[in-house]
Amino acid sequence: MTMHEPYYLSLQRRKWLTSLARRYPQRRSIALPAVWAVQYDWGFIPAPAIEEIAEVVGITPAAVREIVTFYSMFREAPVGRYLIGVCGTLSCALCGAEGLLDYLQEKLGIKPGETTPDGLFSLEVMMCLGACAWAPAMLVNQRIHVRLTRTRVDEILAWCRENA
Ligand code: FES
Repeated sequence: MTMHEPYYLSLQRRKWLTSLARRYPQRRSIALPAVWAVQYDWGFIPAPAIEEIAEVVGITPAAVREIVTFYSMFREAPVGRYLIGVCGTLSCALCGAEGLLDYLQEKLGIKPGETTPDGLFSLEVMMCLGACAWAPAMLVNQRIHVRLTRTRVDEILAWCRENA
């Protein structure tokens, strides 16, 4: 069997995974970082990437698919340039996250799970973001924003538009 040419997992990513694999007794332990790397680099896990990940890790495509479908943070479809995740867990809910979600839906004209027609924003409700003491919180791509108000949300959206 011939190995896939590096495509979804670049040579650099493959080298990183090989070095990670040395830390674990079983190579299959690098499956999660491999899936993470594809999503980080591509924004989601394209279907053809599953087979490439399986080859690199040395597990079956079905085992990779299990990982992709088990963890809610992995996506099988593209999202907008900015993925906004509003925390929907208790501390944030008590501090007004629901009102913020309504506000974002109104401002962006989309519901959770949708993307704006210009492809700029996608909206999601996420579980606790680990910033409960500074609720309410939301993630914009990899960056967390806390102690949110409507004014602060307006500023964040404006920054995103300016820097898209
Ligand atoms: Fe929202 Fe923990 S409950 S960050």
